[in-house]
Amino acid sequence: MDLQQHSYRAVKFLIFLIAFGVLVVAENPCASGPPVDTNPAECCPTPMLIEGSIMMDCYQKYGEQTKKQLKLDGVPRGCCIAECAMNATNMYADGMLKRDDVSKMFMDAMKDKPEWMAVVRDATNACFELAESKKEEIEAGAKLEPSFEGEKICHPISGVVLRCMGMMMFGQCPSTVFNESENCKKLREYGSMCPMI
Ligand SMILES: *[C@@H]1O[C@H](CO)[C@@H](O)[C@H](O)[C@H]1NC(C)=O
Ligand SMILES: *[C@@H]1O[C@H](CO)[C@@H](O)[C@H](O)[C@H]1NC(C)=O
Repeated sequence: MDLQQHSYRAVKFLIFLIAFGVLVVAENPCASGPPVDTNPAECCPTPMLIEGSIMMDCYQKYGEQTKKQLKLDGVPRGCCIAECAMNATNMYADGMLKRDDVSKMFMDAMKDKPEWMAVVRDATNACFELAESKKEEIEAGAKLEPSFEGEKICHPISGVVLRCMGMMMFGQCPSTVFNESENCKKLREYGSMCPMI
């Protein structure tokens, strides 16, 4: 094969890659994961909404099962770490979160962080609205049967709200807190379109 032919094939291959890449990206900008391996916590240290010791305890109980569940397809499964935390703070009962109490708990957690108050208040409203709009999917998730030995089925409402809070807080990170490095800006752009948690 002469040099010209070789480079022609390379160019064709490159065009194929680009076209394919662009198509995939156009379809789902999240498919290839975050563009940088920067830890979101280095870009925006979001404050805890629920006491750290409760989260640790719930993570210890349900962390392994949650990792397994993330690999399953189909109707999204409820996150038991989140439900465990909402139970421990008395915020969950009968497939519902006590919205007013949750709002108060989140705002109380921000009492020494005035820069976060507006963000958390708006995020709380937005996330409860999101949960309302996903009601059917959430109810379907609550009715799933265990798909592996020992799987505990949790109601998805707590996970939907907590995950949404995390994304909203990262996305709306106050400018006084956000780390304006190039990688962090890329991550914020990605986080505004794609789930990161
Ligand atoms: C800001 O982000 C960069 C990564 O993009 C990281 O290396 C650096 O440590 C961060 N700075 C702070 C103060 O967290
Ligand atoms: C949370 O409490 C409810 C009872 O209100 C219980 O059915 C459920 O299993 C608890 N969830 C977790 C993760 O402990």
